[in-house]
Amino acid sequence: MVKYQEDSNDDLEKLEIELLLQGLYAWCGYDFKNYAYNSIRRRIWYRVHAEKLSSITALLEKILHEPACLQRLIGDFSINVTEMFRDPLFFLHFREKVVPLLRTYPSIKIWHAGCASGEEVYSMAMLLKEEGLYEKTKIYATDMNAEVLKKAKSGLFPLENMRKYTSNYLNAGGKKAFSDYYHVTNNGVKFHSYLTENVVFAQHNLVTDHSFNEFHVILCRNVLIYFNKPLQEKVHSLFYESLGMFGILGLGDKETINFTNMEDSYETISRSQKLYKKVK
Ligand SMILES: C[S@@+](CC[C@H](N)C(=O)[O-])C[C@H]1O[C@@H](n2cnc3c(N)ncnc32)[C@H](O)[C@@H]1O
Repeated sequence: MVKYQEDSNDDLEKLEIELLLQGLYAWCGYDFKNYAYNSIRRRIWYRVHAEKLSSITALLEKILHEPACLQRLIGDFSINVTEMFRDPLFFLHFREKVVPLLRTYPSIKIWHAGCASGEEVYSMAMLLKEEGLYEKTKIYATDMNAEVLKKAKSGLFPLENMRKYTSNYLNAGGKKAFSDYYHVTNNGVKFHSYLTENVVFAQHNLVTDHSFNEFHVILCRNVLIYFNKPLQEKVHSLFYESLGMFGILGLGDKETINFTNMEDSYETISRSQKLYKKVK
């Protein structure tokens, strides 16, 4: 059957994207096949142009033969935007509504899934320290991207971000001077190493890796928005399996447990701040 030019262009683009994602998966195990299509499509075209190529198929060839290009594409797919005390009200509600529950446990395990360069993890460590809970807590901070985890471990962050982070910290109910947590170096701001004493940073892929522990809290904020609906459902099942009874799930501003297959298993703790408690 002869196709109209426009239709066949669309179909061809879809096919090329499918082949690229399949090739990427077969070649290095990264599975982006169920990421939100339009966002992945935009990022692929960005990379095609940045590499001065003329087609998605040419990009497939390049990622198979040039490891550095492969890394650049994975970097494009892993959007690492983050900040300390991002959405300060989330941390305020966590302090007010979740901390009292955590106080009742002899020890606490928290998983930050998709922690990027770690700003969220350092924020949580400060909050728990101020609430007297940090010493009995183990934090597992994971991301699929090894490069951002290196940054997270270093504890070094740009000085120019501190003004914004200080304001976030205060709006999140911070109890000290934010600057007590870091000192300024020639390479930026270095956060005190006690903030990572109880933190394990590790590579973990939510699409291809399994549950690895049982947690009291799982935060996965601003990650699921990049997945399509079936993949979101799959990852919600992973979180459900990985949470103990009455465990807390914290999602990002634009994410929700509502309208997922897990909705009935959670009670809402803060509707506006996307905090949920597993109840069955
Ligand atoms: C926008 S950042 C969110 C950082 C932090 N949670 C926050 O809300 O500020 C999204 C992170 O999710 C990670 N990510 C994307 N897909 C992932 C996957 N399949 N498994 C683990 N991490 C993933 C990315 O590498 C990126 O660091």
